[in-house]
Amino acid sequence: MTSPIHSLDARYYTDPAIYAKECKGLLAKTWQFGCHGSALPLPGSYTSFDIAGESLFAIRDRDHRIRVFYNVCQHRAHQLVSGSGRVPAIVCPYHAWSYHLDGRLRSAPNLDVVAGVDTASICLSEVKVEEFLGFVFVNLDPEAAPMDQWFPHARQELMEWVPNWDRLKPLEWVEIPEDCNWKVSVENYSECYHCALNHPTFASGVVKPETYDIQPQGKCLRHTTECQNLADMTYDIQSGFDHFDQYSSWFLWPMFSFQVYPGNVLNTYHWRAVDADHVVVWRGWYSVDGAENDTVRKLAKQDRETTVEEDIHLVESVQRGLCSRGYRPGPLVIDPEGGVNSEHPVMHLQRWMKEAIDA
Ligand code: FES
Ligand SMILES: [Fe+2]
Repeated sequence: MTSPIHSLDARYYTDPAIYAKECKGLLAKTWQFGCHGSALPLPGSYTSFDIAGESLFAIRDRDHRIRVFYNVCQHRAHQLVSGSGRVPAIVCPYHAWSYHLDGRLRSAPNLDVVAGVDTASICLSEVKVEEFLGFVFVNLDPEAAPMDQWFPHARQELMEWVPNWDRLKPLEWVEIPEDCNWKVSVENYSECYHCALNHPTFASGVVKPETYDIQPQGKCLRHTTECQNLADMTYDIQSGFDHFDQYSSWFLWPMFSFQVYPGNVLNTYHWRAVDADHVVVWRGWYSVDGAENDTVRKLAKQDRETTVEEDIHLVESVQRGLCSRGYRPGPLVIDPEGGVNSEHPVMHLQRWMKEAIDA
């Protein structure tokens, strides 16, 4: 008799030492969302963000290429920028060393009096970056394989599902702090075993749960389902594009997901771990040129008031439970046929988590 696969030990979700280990390994060696490309419209536009405990910033250089640097001056380590803005050059607020938009040192007051300094070799530390459907992703591992290798077919499929992707800009950007470990939130996102009981609107007005499934595609978990009977849909989905009557999502391990709602409505989830028991989840909603769009606004509102709100209570309760002395990890419900009532995607996720953490 084979024995069941049990959920991960609670310490993976509660121990600050494991979180510290993740910042050095798992989170620093995977593709992480930085910003949307539209946040960097012109040369010199920049925006800063934190990943794996590191402050970084993305900036568009004079050749219109997006570069991402560690947010630290190469003189005596002052932080270079904060927030977002636009600059002709990157100037450190401490002693006014300045850098070109491509990271090379441009000038440093009085440095020419110092013999033997090779100014040409001084430049900001750059991070690996990829644009993926207009979204900027970074990987702190210089040896990281390209995203297409991690997430086979995802880019091509998304282009088919969101044919107007290059015109989309964020319309709504909802920030949801959750008192739980990031992995609790990501696991909750990656199974729909809890949907029928906890997400009545999603399960009856958006998707058809009996057709829901999630399957791995490299390090992507691909969610697929048909949409609800047209009469039961909560909005008009006739977009004129292929796939308008389907729902699909591409969860890119470990912390980002592209979702396409029926009607080819792109929306995203991304998670930023704060510490071992706090995570911030961002929901992004997009429209052509970022223009006002009633359907998108309504969907974002409906989602915020139902699915998002419902999930907060679930994940926070789980986090409290993981701290209970009375908890012993139970068996995952893995249906060999897959489907909505199976936790096989959680099994895949937990394998990836354990491999990365215990490595
Ligand atoms: S630390 Fe940046 S100029 Fe001195
Ligand atoms: Fe949920």
